[in-house]
Parts: sequence; structure tokens; C-alpha cells
Amino acid sequence: MVNLFNIALVGLLGSAAAQTQYTSTGSAAVAAARATALTLSPTSNVVGRTFDRFVQIWLENVDYVDAIADRMLSLATQGISLTNYIARTHPSQPNYVAVAGGTRHDITDNNFQRLSSSIKSVVDILEDGGVSWSIYQEDMPYSGFQGNYKNQLTGADAYVRKHNPLMSFDSVTGSATRSAKCKNFTMFERDLATNKLPQWMFITPNMTNSGHDTSLNFAGKWARNFITPLLSNSNFNGGRTLVMLTFDEGSYERNNQVYAVLMGSAVPSSRKGTTNSTSYGHYSVLKTVELNWNLGNLGQNDVSANAFF
Ligand SMILES: *[C@@H]1O[C@H](CO)[C@@H](O)[C@H](O)[C@H]1NC(C)=O
Ligand SMILES: *[C@@H]1O[C@H](CO)[C@@H](O)[C@H](O)[C@H]1NC(C)=O
Ligand SMILES: *[C@@H]1O[C@H](CO)[C@@H](O)[C@H](O)[C@H]1NC(C)=O
Repeated sequence: MVNLFNIALVGLLGSAAAQTQYTSTGSAAVAAARATALTLSPTSNVVGRTFDRFVQIWLENVDYVDAIADRMLSLATQGISLTNYIARTHPSQPNYVAVAGGTRHDITDNNFQRLSSSIKSVVDILEDGGVSWSIYQEDMPYSGFQGNYKNQLTGADAYVRKHNPLMSFDSVTGSATRSAKCKNFTMFERDLATNKLPQWMFITPNMTNSGHDTSLNFAGKWARNFITPLLSNSNFNGGRTLVMLTFDEGSYERNNQVYAVLMGSAVPSSRKGTTNSTSYGHYSVLKTVELNWNLGNLGQNDVSANAFF
């Protein structure tokens, strides 16, 4: 299938750029795309029912029982721990698709997937409601990049498409303005420093920091070091910010229960350090966002899911 966005890019560059422009990892191709890639940092101020900013941070592949045994749960004192949160499926990619789309859209693997441009995701309803959004993916080489990217010195996997919740949607990759809001951590730091963070965001650390290629202990340390200063940064946590830290999935050996904690200034101090045993999952995240900003729904599993608030 021909990608319309790449045709537009050929026109833009005035050259015969290959159709693989946005997936190519050759250094010349990356440098060329980086030099021209559109990057956008929209903001908005739509007042929500319970929070005015929502941030999701996903780590990789840890069972609930292991997470609660780890020191990372020092973060639990900062928020509400969800003690009955079940991930959707295995492997990674359909979990990420599910949290954006309200269903895994029949995806059952980590392969390069493309969902038809008529298939909607959370960003359609966010945009309809005027709620600004961005996703931040560590080590993505430039905004809108559609491939996988390795550490250029060591060759280790760094950024992977399967951990990006929006990249499988042609309704995102086929849009220049939506692609421009799929950014890296350089842009996160810039948006944070310039007070240009959006109201909805999804953050994926690289394969090292997420724990995928390391351990829970490593990922937990990364999460504490990343989140703690943000909680005292008013550009991030000012107003009513809700931060959810969780895992995409557990191991194949157990019931796919994962740890999730809700933090940030939107959580009243009286509820910090508490637990909640309501049945939740990745579709609850969508439902919570939909109710908070009165966005309607995607007509998928988001409709019947339990909301956090
Ligand atoms: C992150 O993306 C921006 C925008 O496309 C790009 O200019 C920058 O070089 C990227 N950072 C890294 C470390 O690749
Ligand atoms: C992941 O990011 C960290 C910095 O946050 C860096 O030290 C590490 O090398 C990166 N991992 C890979 C595989 O590039
Ligand atoms: C937790 O549980 C109750 C149900 O007892 C629910 O109404 C409440 O909103 C829940 N959510 C959170 C995040 O505590």
C-alpha cells in the first residue's frame, strides 16, 4: 500500500525520496529527515472533571507480585496503588494498541502493523474535545519516525515501534500534524523547560530504561529518578496533573496482573499511599480520560470499562 504521507514528503523535499524515508535508519536518511521533520508542541487548557493533565508512563514486562516486592514502590507513597489491574494480552504491541484504540484490533504480535486510516484512536476524541496531546518516546531519532532505532554506538535496541501506542494507526502516521506530535525525549525536555507540555501525554523510556532489556530493579530506579523531580516541577505537576505509572504486561506464567500507581497533584494528599482494588485494565485508562474531559468514546471496550474516578 502506498503511504500518502511519504508521497507528500517527496513533494516537500523536491527529490525522489524512497518510500522508506520515515523508517530508514541509515545515517544520511535520518539526518535528512531530522532536518525537515515537522515538530509541534500544542498546548490547551480544557478544564477536566478530576484532572487537567494526564500523563502515562509505561514500563515493561513485570508481574504485580514482583513489582510490589521491589523498592520502586517507594513511589506508592506518592499515590493510589491499583491492586487489581490486569493487562490486556501478550506480547507488548497489542497492549499499546489497546490503550490507544480501545481494542487490540486483532493484532497478536510485535510485527510492523498498519491499521487502516479509518480506524480511530484516542487522539481523534482528544482533538475533537480540544485537548492537546503529544507522545514522548526516548531515542526516537526525530518526530514522526516510523521505524525502529538502535543505539548508534553499541547497536543495542533503543527505540522500538512496538512500544509506541500510536505508530500502528495510519490515522496518525498518515497525518503530518499528528506525526509532528510523536516526539522524543529531547523534545520532552524542551517542552518542559518552555512550559509547552500538552494536556495528554504518553511517555515510553527506551529498551534499557523500561526494563525490557534490563530488570525491574533498573526500571524502578529509572522511574524514581525520572518522576521525582517532575513532581516538584510546576511546568509538569502544576494545576491538577494525574500521572499513571504502569507496565504493558506481566509474564506469560501468571495472570497478567500488573502494578499501576496514580500520582500527581490531582491526587488529594489524603489518598496518597492508599490502595484501590477495583477491577481495572488498559481500557480503564481510556474511559477515565473520556469521562474527565467529556469526550464521548471510541465505541470499543472503553465503553464498558471501569473508570479510575
Ligand atoms: C529529537 O527530535 C528532534 C525533532 O525532530 C530532533 O531535532 C532531535 O535531534 C532528536 N533528538 C535525538 C537525540 O535524536
Ligand atoms: C537509553 O537511555 C539512556 C539515557 O536515558 C542511555 O544511557 C542508554 O544508553 C539508552 N539505551 C540504549 C540502548 O541506547
Ligand atoms: C477506587 O474505588 C472506588 C470504589 O470503591 C471508586 O469509586 C473510586 O473512584 C476508585 N478509584 C480510585 C482511583 O481510587
